[in-house]
Amino acid sequence: RTVTLALHPAFRVAPVRPRTFGAFVEHLGRCVYGGIFEPGHPAADEAGFRTDVLDLTRELGVTSVRYPGGNFVSGYRWEDGVGPVEERPARHDLAWHSTEPNTVGLDEFMAWAERAGVEPMYAVNLGTRGVPEALDVLQYANAPQGIALSDARAAHGHPEPYGIRMWCLGNEMDGPWQTGHKTAEEYARTAAETARAMRQEDPGLELVACGSSSSQMPTFGTWEATVLAETYDLVDMVSAHAYYAEKDGDQASFLASADDMDHFIDSVVATADHVRAELKAEKRIMVSFDEWNVWYQHRAESRPPEGDDWPVAPVLLEDTYNAMDAVVVGSLLISLLRHSDRVASASLAQLVNVIAPIMTAPGGEAWRQTTFHPFALTARHAAGEVLDVRIDAPTFANERFGTSSAADAVATWDETAGDLTLFVVNRDPERELDLAVNLADFGGLSLVEALTLHHEDPYAANTQDAPDTVTPQANDSIRVEDGRLSGALPAISWSLVRLQ
Ligand code: AHR
Repeated sequence: RTVTLALHPAFRVAPVRPRTFGAFVEHLGRCVYGGIFEPGHPAADEAGFRTDVLDLTRELGVTSVRYPGGNFVSGYRWEDGVGPVEERPARHDLAWHSTEPNTVGLDEFMAWAERAGVEPMYAVNLGTRGVPEALDVLQYANAPQGIALSDARAAHGHPEPYGIRMWCLGNEMDGPWQTGHKTAEEYARTAAETARAMRQEDPGLELVACGSSSSQMPTFGTWEATVLAETYDLVDMVSAHAYYAEKDGDQASFLASADDMDHFIDSVVATADHVRAELKAEKRIMVSFDEWNVWYQHRAESRPPEGDDWPVAPVLLEDTYNAMDAVVVGSLLISLLRHSDRVASASLAQLVNVIAPIMTAPGGEAWRQTTFHPFALTARHAAGEVLDVRIDAPTFANERFGTSSAADAVATWDETAGDLTLFVVNRDPERELDLAVNLADFGGLSLVEALTLHHEDPYAANTQDAPDTVTPQANDSIRVEDGRLSGALPAISWSLVRLQ
């Protein structure tokens, strides 16, 4: 069983976009409190940020971080989170049935983002709020001193504007679970009005309209068409969200999850381009895949508290990821990279503790989940131009998609440095693949490194006690001879091959 990959330096898709490697920090569970922020922790800095989490965030290679939600943002009052901490109100967060103490808000997040070296992406509340409050938070964040809100920011110790460029116009407004959920028509109007006003304040912003919460939403397709028909000239991107999980032991469908992501992106691009044709517009709308990951939503740890229980930072959505989950995350990244011509931004949801690559124990260690590794390696080594890869591979049957290619792959080519990097996944649940790649069109490349993430038990996980159970290992079977790359890809594996 051989997979042949055809590669050529001319198969260019687009330059690698740093924003492909974004993540997400929501006021949800222990993502903020006990995640990025834990005053009193031995590793906390003077502002209360965990430096161990900051170190891992940098190691992960995260470039941008979406904040403050998520479902949370649709009931959030941003002004609760600025000013003297002791005067900030605690509020019920309806999305996650929790109490929000507002100890961390915009100014703290911006201080954290600077330490982490990431670009902020800020979501405004279009659930319970609208144009005035979106303008207020924009002026607080970005206006030079001299008006009420920017002077308030200066009085809070931040005289310089933050200059946040990327703004999300609400979150998942197509979802009936969303506070302030809207029909496509209602949302299109609100988003257009908000975008127009925000652009009057600053024409240079990059605005993201809400797309669909998944490709399974009953309004998928018509939602994007309706929203873009009204907002086309006012926004730059439309969002896409997708979460995948193994259900009822169906490994094969889960391993093929990237087929859905491919279909999702292609459909949104087709819809956006259809609206473009109708409007005779010149610009193209890009996709912001600003929530994606593996998420076991049916598990108890994803169920919010109920009744009179409104805890602060409860344990919520704390999935422990296994080797197979990491292979799927690597494979979803291949899909995102392959679509770099139209996916301008993406955010792994989320960063710490909440469906996250980084976990923390209160007062204790921070560690890397299995999913940390394919993300960190892709973020570190994808460079130059994304190259499309033509794949000739066996298929495997699965319930969700019928048949799927056993292998998926993408490459990046940094011509100046002479670096060719191959990201390849064997999604077949049972069978090994022999890899064959003709490198003749790249001159005389040699192998620099070949790493494979695989575990004989696909359910093996990294835990606090055994944080290195699943890590990428050198794949000694991979070699280059006479301009030909060959080697073995175990079943359920993700690999990185670096050549120069
Ligand atoms: O990331 C967890 C949740 O998933 C977000 O709050 C919401 O936007 C999505 O449904």
